Amino acid sequence: MSSGIEKIRNAAILATTGFLVFQAAQSFRTAPVLAAQRAAQSPQNPQSPQSPGAAAQANAGGKQVPEDPGAKSYAKQCAICHGDQREGILPAFPPLLGIKRQMNDQQITDLIHKGKGRMPGFPKLPNEELTALLTYLSTAETSAGSTASGAASTTVHSSSLAEAGGGLFQQNCAFCHGRDAQGGETGPDLTQSKLVLGDKNGDQISEVVRNGRPEKKMPAFNFSSQELLSLVAFIRAREAAAASQKGGRRGVEVADLQTGNLAAGKEYFNGAGGCSKCHSPTGDLAGIATRYQGLKLEMRMLYPEDAASKVTVTTRDGKTFEGTLAYRDEWIIGLRDADKTYHSWRIQDVKYKVDSPVDAHVEQFPKYTDADIHNLMAYLQSLR
Ligand code: HEC
Ligand code: HEC
Ligand code: HEC
Repeated sequence: MSSGIEKIRNAAILATTGFLVFQAAQSFRTAPVLAAQRAAQSPQNPQSPQSPGAAAQANAGGKQVPEDPGAKSYAKQCAICHGDQREGILPAFPPLLGIKRQMNDQQITDLIHKGKGRMPGFPKLPNEELTALLTYLSTAETSAGSTASGAASTTVHSSSLAEAGGGLFQQNCAFCHGRDAQGGETGPDLTQSKLVLGDKNGDQISEVVRNGRPEKKMPAFNFSSQELLSLVAFIRAREAAAASQKGGRRGVEVADLQTGNLAAGKEYFNGAGGCSKCHSPTGDLAGIATRYQGLKLEMRMLYPEDAASKVTVTTRDGKTFEGTLAYRDEWIIGLRDADKTYHSWRIQDVKYKVDSPVDAHVEQFPKYTDADIHNLMAYLQSLR
């Protein structure tokens, strides 16, 4: 998708420098960021999965219990989709690191209240919790790539990591892989690459970049590990963006989701998960695995976004209306009745009750472990 001029410019750079121009030509922005990251990684300031302070305060063995109420709320409500460290779960759920650079508090608040696409709304989140969440979302990453320990702590957002990687990518990779990593003249689309998708910690991407595949026209590059990290962050960000594009055109291998235990999933379904209160494997969920596969099925299970809520509205003069919820914000409630006619009222003028059985799914988020989800998936995938 790069313009012709861009290509020619890149071609010239590649031709004259043999790819390695980043040190000289790097923008002013990225150099200090990389320097800061190096400083943050120095031996006096070792990287650990949790900052030492947090570990000392909160770790009573097993999972870390976050101290800060925003982090707590995040872990409970959001981590299941956006990842424990806000890194996102690709390809379906975008990372939230550095989100404050893209969205302001009001936009994030609206999104959390109303939801969007596959993201459910959380209309009942108390105000204090929301405020704590917004504060938490503006904090920097605490594990990979930066650290907050020490007096002169350097705050490095993952988005600046991706930004630094973006600079390197444009200079060194875009000519072949396209400016957005979605493929170019000679290089494949990295946002759809199986290798990229399956590479949890960036090791495989780094290896390809370090060694190249000379016989296949992928050159080798001599980057520092910090530069490689930033390249990986950039490729991940492009991958997330590509995945959230409308009609996301990629699929996850069904096999990737088949790591659970069917019997344990069935037990959870009928027991702790409470799924059998509303569903039956021979009734409404019969053939579910034929209707949806892979990630799509997992998403239906986690949050069936289009499920209708029932509403009953009672007006001041005592009339009652029933239907499916068609609209709700802070001021207006709207429903569609049995004849598909739309009615709406100012909330202050009526009493209403929303019955949203699908809320059970949202309430389940904080309770699932990863194993529960994998086991459930194994079970649901047997319902063909
Ligand atoms: C069931 C999964 C799920 C849960 C739970 C969830 N989200 Fe999301 N979220 C998504 C999806 C999917 C998107 C992408 C929506 C789209 O663009 O269509 C998203 C998008 C976002 C975005 C916008 C990101 C961007 O780059 O545009 C923000 C901010 C966000 N979520 C915050 C939160 C917060 C805060 C919570 C917890 C209160 C939360 N989400 C819980 C699935 C989820
Ligand atoms: C001269 C063109 C060219 C340049 C420049 C280039 N690549 Fe590649 N790259 C390729 C080709 C061609 C392949 C496919 C090789 C193959 O078929 O195994 C590839 C493969 C890859 C893969 C493996 C994808 C997969 O699915 O196996 C990764 C990751 C990658 N490149 C990253 C990068 C990064 C990061 C840069 C910049 C630092 C870069 N490439 C620069 C041409 C290029
Ligand atoms: C309080 C009732 C309730 C509970 C409990 C519940 N669900 Fe649901 N579920 C629903 C409703 C309502 C829908 C939307 C049905 C529709 O749109 O046809 C739904 C939809 C689904 C779907 C998508 C069905 C489809 O055809 O698209 C799956 C899969 C699912 N639930 C799995 C589960 C699992 C697994 C559990 C237990 C962890 C669970 N549900 C717990 C009410 C519930």
